[in-house]
Amino acid sequence: IPTKIFDESIQGSKYVAQLIADAIRRKKDQNDSLVLGLATGSTPTDVYAELIRMHEEEGLSFQNVITFNLDEYYPMQPKSLQSYVRFMEEQLFNHVDIPEDQVHIPDGTIEEDNVEQYCRDYEHKIAEVGGIDIQLLGIGRTGHIGFNEPGSRPDSKTRLITLDKITRKDAASDFFGEEYVPRRAITMGVGTILDADQIIMMAWGEGKAPIIKETIEGEVRESVPATYLQNHENAEVVLDNASADELI
Ligand code: F6R
Repeated sequence: IPTKIFDESIQGSKYVAQLIADAIRRKKDQNDSLVLGLATGSTPTDVYAELIRMHEEEGLSFQNVITFNLDEYYPMQPKSLQSYVRFMEEQLFNHVDIPEDQVHIPDGTIEEDNVEQYCRDYEHKIAEVGGIDIQLLGIGRTGHIGFNEPGSRPDSKTRLITLDKITRKDAASDFFGEEYVPRRAITMGVGTILDADQIIMMAWGEGKAPIIKETIEGEVRESVPATYLQNHENAEVVLDNASADELI
């Protein structure tokens, strides 16, 4: 997988933000929309901050942007402190001019009986707008992309999954204790992610170094879903020195 390594994560974040801004403007010139797949968590926050800055200082408009977020905890109320709806509003959507009806985030309040249909509809909505142009990803220490934990199939679609113990441990501080972290989540599938035209995975910090080595240099396998990115034609990994530390 082509890899770019920056001294500091902020430089990597600005590189990714610039790439997104360029794509938004290119589509705008063609009177077209850019369909963005978005991630939450600590990794993309500086990308979103930089996009907000570009909106405020450089007139970057999000009127022609359509977004689909990767995942949401299940169950989850949108107004909860830990919801990804709230995260996206606070980190990006409340600060730019994206029309509300162009934002899509898996709904953690769907009744369990209706989740399957809901997930099919989510896939349908992505297809309806012509698929995802650029998909942003972080990576979990388990090797998950979205919340596709080890064991996820390469052709998996949006669905309800069980979170890995390590993932729940990593989320414990957000929920004030591991026991309060939801056991499940709705996530786009690996197949949904791999259908994107372009994929940009980011990872910062030494904690991600071992899984980044596996992702880039390891064999493609179900036990490390991020390795599936090796089979994508237009995927790129953006790292800081710390997360790249174990690469050959
Ligand atoms: C979040 C997501 C996850 C995170 C991953 C890394 O929407 O899909 O795969 O990207 O868990 O999380 P952080 O960035 O907090 O280290």
